Amino acid sequence: MKFETNNTQVTLIQKKSQLFIKIAVCLILLGFTYRFYFPTPVIVVRDDDRKSRSSMQPETADETLPDHFPGNNTGIYEGSTECDIFTGEWVRDLTGPWYTNRTCSGIQQHQNCMMNGRPDTDYIYWRWSPFECKLPAFDPKMFLHFMRNKSMAFIGDSISRNQVQSLFCILSQVEEPVEVYHDEEYRSKRWVFESNNFTLSVIWSPFLTKAKIFEDNDGHSSGAVQLHLDELDPVWVDEFSNFNYIMIGGGKWFLKAAIYYENNTIIGCHNCNKANISEVSFYHAYRKAIRTVLNFIKKSDHELFAFLRTTTPDHFENGEWNTGGYCNRTVPFKNGEINMGDIDMLMRDIELEEYENAKEGMYGPVLRLFDTTRLSLLRPDGHPGPYRVFHPFDGNDGNVKVQNDCLHWCLPGPIDSWNDLIMNLLLRG
Ligand SMILES: *[C@@H]1O[C@H](CO)[C@@H](O)[C@H](O)[C@H]1NC(C)=O
Ligand SMILES: *[C@@H]1O[C@H](CO)[C@@H](O)[C@H](O)[C@H]1NC(C)=O
Ligand SMILES: *[C@@H]1O[C@H](CO)[C@@H](O)[C@H](O)[C@H]1NC(C)=O
Ligand SMILES: *[C@@H]1O[C@H](CO)[C@@H](O)[C@H](O)[C@H]1NC(C)=O
Ligand SMILES: *[C@@H]1O[C@H](CO)[C@@H](O)[C@H](O)[C@H]1NC(C)=O
Ligand SMILES: *[C@@H]1O[C@H](CO)[C@@H](O)[C@H](O)[C@H]1NC(C)=O
Ligand SMILES: *[C@@H]1O[C@H](CO)[C@@H](O)[C@H](O)[C@H]1NC(C)=O
Repeated sequence: MKFETNNTQVTLIQKKSQLFIKIAVCLILLGFTYRFYFPTPVIVVRDDDRKSRSSMQPETADETLPDHFPGNNTGIYEGSTECDIFTGEWVRDLTGPWYTNRTCSGIQQHQNCMMNGRPDTDYIYWRWSPFECKLPAFDPKMFLHFMRNKSMAFIGDSISRNQVQSLFCILSQVEEPVEVYHDEEYRSKRWVFESNNFTLSVIWSPFLTKAKIFEDNDGHSSGAVQLHLDELDPVWVDEFSNFNYIMIGGGKWFLKAAIYYENNTIIGCHNCNKANISEVSFYHAYRKAIRTVLNFIKKSDHELFAFLRTTTPDHFENGEWNTGGYCNRTVPFKNGEINMGDIDMLMRDIELEEYENAKEGMYGPVLRLFDTTRLSLLRPDGHPGPYRVFHPFDGNDGNVKVQNDCLHWCLPGPIDSWNDLIMNLLLRG
């Protein structure tokens, strides 16, 4: 199975409490400006959309900010620290995205829906709004300030890359970063935002644990993955001590045919068609891998704030990625309009259980759940669909079968809201 389609894919040292009140007032005012609602908006993507947006940002003079993430539940988010920010709804937001295909150079072609000619633009005019509290919009200047001398890494599969590109695009509106590293296949990258000495990385490690993958860049597999469930992928572990913040996530790659190893011994396989190896459920493999990752983080002895991202749902309808499935909806679902698929539900259950187990007796590092599965499920309209390639219907009558991508997210798109969630969790501490 191939899910990559064809893409190579916040101790608040509190100063004066007045300062916090100022910031809080700014954020609340900012929050109100996002509460506009128009039933049938006239939607035009203009670059001034984001100019007007940035002019609304509070001036983030250095002295008025707490020293660094994470916060300690005081000040800025007073009253909302118990708020479940992952339960809510998508609301109309005519402010528009922070960036467009013209203002961000870091959008992967397969997710550059604007450039690729996606005709409708409604999907960029929504923002995530929790039921229990206000979720202030991400503030790139404030974020960069908090991240002085810090390093943050997104570790995982192509969804992690999708997410880092969203953050990159927003941050690059206030400062163009310098790329300081990429691997041979441009799958892992590192940038530095020099004015704040903030390092941002994305690390390609689709299984998180050690894996031998026999697949080319187009996703053609020439053999089952050899997956070690009790050994971590050195590609991120070797650099782990350099990171202050990590966003880690797994998911769909675990559905692939694989031979599972523990203690360097084959314990079974999934869909490997080898008579002498017994079938082991990929759920077992996923649980074991997530546990290996979380146990490692739990035992780490450097200052670390880690997010565990939950699995991401796809929205293929009337088929799968390779059997003509598509996703042509243009509005979000409302709560209750769609149920989570069995696989996503089981994978998320494993993530939640392993997260709770890991949190038990965890004293050094901070671990937070980044539970975006359900809010993502409500956005069938946010995927590239056929617009994963440049003008897919040019030169044909529109009936030609083109491969759809109903897993990754258009940039700009729904995944931009994930940054609001990160900011909130970092400020809460
Ligand atoms: C959080 O900030 C408050 C207000 O300054 C302070 O009294 C408290 O000790 C801090 N808590 C931690 C855990 O740092
Ligand atoms: C951005 O997308 C618009 C269509 O939405 C297109 O006209 C324009 O050429 C694109 N620009 C770039 C640099 O991709
Ligand atoms: C960042 O690091 C530099 C060099 O180590 C140091 O001089 C500076 O004070 C640090 N800044 C902050 C905000 O920690
Ligand atoms: C940048 O931050 C790193 C820690 O992340 C520190 O080691 C380095 O000295 C800093 N560099 C500058 C120029 O401040
Ligand atoms: C792993 O294998 C070695 C020998 O190959 C054995 O001594 C050890 O007990 C095994 N450990 C586990 C956890 O099975
Ligand atoms: C399965 O059989 C193949 C040859 O048919 C052999 O090379 C391999 O070592 C066997 N694997 C196990 C786990 O017994
Ligand atoms: C989506 O595509 C299907 C099949 O081509 C079509 O029947 C349906 O009307 C389309 N829906 C939208 C919202 O375009």
